[in-house]
Amino acid sequence: MASDKRGMHGIWASRWTFILAAVGSAVGLGNIWKFPYITGEYGGGAFVLVYLLCILSVGIPVMMAEVLLGRKARMSPINTMHRLTEKYKAPAFFSGIGWMGAVAGFFILSFYSVIAGWTLYYSQEMVTGTFVSISADDAGAVFGGLLGDPATLIAYHTLFLFLVGFVISRGVHRGLETSLRMLMPLLFVMLLVLLGYSLTTPGFAQGWDFLFRFEPEKLSEEAIITALGHSFFTLSLGMGAIMAYGAYMPANSRLGKTILTVGALDTLVALVAGLVIFPIVFSNGLEPGAGPGLMFQTLPIAFGQLPGGIIIGTAFFVLVAIAAWSSAISLAEPAVAWAVEKGFSRVRATITVCALAWVLGLGTVMSFNHWENHQYFVTVTGIDQEGEVAFEDLRLYADVEVLRSTLGTTGGLTYEVKGKTFFDVLDFLTTNILLPLGGVLISLFVGWFMTRRAIADEARMKSERMLSLWRFMIRFVAPLAVLFVIYNGLI
Ligand code: PFF
Ligand code: NA
Repeated sequence: MASDKRGMHGIWASRWTFILAAVGSAVGLGNIWKFPYITGEYGGGAFVLVYLLCILSVGIPVMMAEVLLGRKARMSPINTMHRLTEKYKAPAFFSGIGWMGAVAGFFILSFYSVIAGWTLYYSQEMVTGTFVSISADDAGAVFGGLLGDPATLIAYHTLFLFLVGFVISRGVHRGLETSLRMLMPLLFVMLLVLLGYSLTTPGFAQGWDFLFRFEPEKLSEEAIITALGHSFFTLSLGMGAIMAYGAYMPANSRLGKTILTVGALDTLVALVAGLVIFPIVFSNGLEPGAGPGLMFQTLPIAFGQLPGGIIIGTAFFVLVAIAAWSSAISLAEPAVAWAVEKGFSRVRATITVCALAWVLGLGTVMSFNHWENHQYFVTVTGIDQEGEVAFEDLRLYADVEVLRSTLGTTGGLTYEVKGKTFFDVLDFLTTNILLPLGGVLISLFVGWFMTRRAIADEARMKSERMLSLWRFMIRFVAPLAVLFVIYNGLI
């Protein structure tokens, strides 16, 4: 692919090259790290079902809209939205999609990079044999040790951002394309090897049940908003990343089929990751709701028992780091393109964005140690002897450790104190609010301001019926679903 300084004007060699790039952006920590841990936290099957519904009814239609916009204008997301807002006479705030996306991507990058740093650290620990025949307790201790060590967390966060900045400053993805062509399939093969292992563990049936048994009573308001938000996060939607890649898509390739392929691959990787991780959880008596450490506390146990585990394990964590790297590049690209359009050179834009993401990332680093108890949106629930809720309170900020000890058992109640760390707040704000909001604006724009004719010309869908169905989804279903869920979730 040819790319000039702005990196916005090449055309992918074929439909498959676009798929590769989009999958490179989509498949990342969201599939292998985040999907399993939030599924664990929100109780399994019911959450997974809502997530799948969101992918189908909101994610895929919005993705088509986003790619269509990028392909239509063939510019950076910010310019694309400026140009098209004028062209289709939409209200000016629609052009805000571009910079809102850049900000969301930058926020996500700041914590994404910290977690990607964990995978780099684990690659290194795999090579040196730390995990050979390790017990679940010891695997937990290794992870706890990493979290308790801000200096190491910062070092790997820095290394990862450096690797990301290196590629971006040189203009997006020359070498990326060829390397991803081999590495993404290899990552998938590794997951299949792990799946083979987890099939032999005693917890497989329980893990399968946990993922796929529908228990609607486990669904909370927050579970639904998280499932919806994650469908945006995992498909890289709502912030212009996929729009930027759409700008490279050949004009004559069909939108529907291409995007279904990307969505299906992303979903497959997430489900296989879940099928690998939960059997290990149950075989070793671990907690499915263990949180962000879930993947790091489970997979090393598998590698520790597999023949050739050192090699397989090292390769696996390196490949996850590479998948995270190609996703992070697409996270930063809209912000960098924005800065370039504001007159920065590409190198200065990259350094600025990465440096700011580095600083903000320190907040995520601290969320796992020094600031662990500094929490926001803290709910306090007092439960009486009969197990009934007798008292409820919400505080914007609290030191939860102090709060727990001052509450003690006042009034004969036992208290549950639950809040969000800095990392949780950033994650919630971006994934559950900014990305869905960006997605709503994108679907409203394509659904209500572009004519059916203009859409049909651009989308090149084979069947009129599919076109109508899709248009209905982005005019009504996606915006209403998202607004309803966000509204309910915030109340
Ligand atoms: N889709 C990526 C993942 O699942 O890891 C994360 C991501 C990349 C989100 C790019 C948003 C984005 F624009
Ligand atoms: Na993903």
